[in-house]
Amino acid sequence: MSKPVLLIPREVVDRDQRVAVVPEHVPMLVRLGFSVHVEKGAGVAASYEDGAYREHGANLVPSAESVYGKAQVVVWVRVPGSGLDDVPFPSLGSGCCVLGLFQPSSQRVLKACRGKPLYAFALERMARITRAQSMDVLSSQSNLAGYGAVIAAAYHSKQLMPMLMTAAGSIVPARCLVIGAGVAGLQAIATARRLGGLVSAIDVRASSKQQVESLGATFLEPEDSAQTDFETAQGYAKEIGSDYQKKQTKLLEEVLPRQDIVITSALIPDKPAPRILTEALVKRMKPGAIIVDLAAEAGGNCPLSKPYQTINHHGVTIIGAASLAAQWPKDASRLFSRNVCDFLSLLFADNPQADISRIPWDDDIITSTLAVKNGEPISRTLS
Ligand code: NAI
Repeated sequence: MSKPVLLIPREVVDRDQRVAVVPEHVPMLVRLGFSVHVEKGAGVAASYEDGAYREHGANLVPSAESVYGKAQVVVWVRVPGSGLDDVPFPSLGSGCCVLGLFQPSSQRVLKACRGKPLYAFALERMARITRAQSMDVLSSQSNLAGYGAVIAAAYHSKQLMPMLMTAAGSIVPARCLVIGAGVAGLQAIATARRLGGLVSAIDVRASSKQQVESLGATFLEPEDSAQTDFETAQGYAKEIGSDYQKKQTKLLEEVLPRQDIVITSALIPDKPAPRILTEALVKRMKPGAIIVDLAAEAGGNCPLSKPYQTINHHGVTIIGAASLAAQWPKDASRLFSRNVCDFLSLLFADNPQADISRIPWDDDIITSTLAVKNGEPISRTLS
């Protein structure tokens, strides 16, 4: 009996340089029972050569189009249609499983899949549970984005990050404020500290205080808010009321004029990003200061930011960061690939023919990511 085909096409969305599976993980997929097909050149932009895929047991195909019709599984980093470019969704065979990131244009992807006999998994919706940690693409990519935000800020800044004592005088360290201390924010804190910045952070989840402090940064809290906690049972933030928002704005009015770099990464699941850095607050910042808005694609923590654009507003540089992890495609791909191969191992465990009916459909991890079941979009999955 022939083996089911798993296809790794070249990325087509927004010139993303990542690749969904790296060569060293191909043997994992072969062991699951797949014949792994890789479109020629799929990994080149991320420094993974065609020869490495071949050496690890993959078949190189000249174009993904020639395999779409017979593939049982197709894995992208970003599913066609999910980005700013409106790339057409390909015509896939009956029962094909599609895996990848659906956002920010998830509605467009869902529309493309509707009514087609396929199964689509939106990896950004992975359940945030301990068992799913190694499959959690949001965490792996957010981690790199947090690093990238600091590197972008340092690159655009007109001053250095660390303190320098030289014969020609001393240079004071840059002050860096991180708004939102989740996965990306904590990595931003760690990176800014390594570069020698003076780092502080705010968050609305009380548990983040200890994490921020363990990285050697200062946790700032609005006045009279010591007992406040906006954390859900799942560990995410919930929306803050107007009372807390006023206190947070007052705190920012005090601290922003001293900051050289502000990195914002505040998100609330299934809601637009909270508007925290209003135009009035940006006006309080010093000329030359940098804002990196990691929430730009989700609407922005700063209403002035625009995804993929860097603008100057009253002397403040505002970087609308989007897909920052993709700027380090080699490492971003390696982490994504491990996430996706672990997920495939769950989907197709002991199922070498990739029989759809034998997928453990009731597993929490699978239900959390399933966005389209046999052409039927699952409404709870993506907003
Ligand atoms: P996220 O990307 O949803 O949000 C980023 C941060 O923004 C969060 O820390 C949130 O509290 C903060 N935030 C939201 N609104 C804010 C506001 N108005 N002002 C200031 N900060 C605000 O969160 P992320 O990075 O996904 O992590 C959330 C939690 O989930 C963390 O505790 C993390 O450790 C946990 N987690 C657990 C995983 C697992 O068990 N598999 C995987 C990843 C994260």
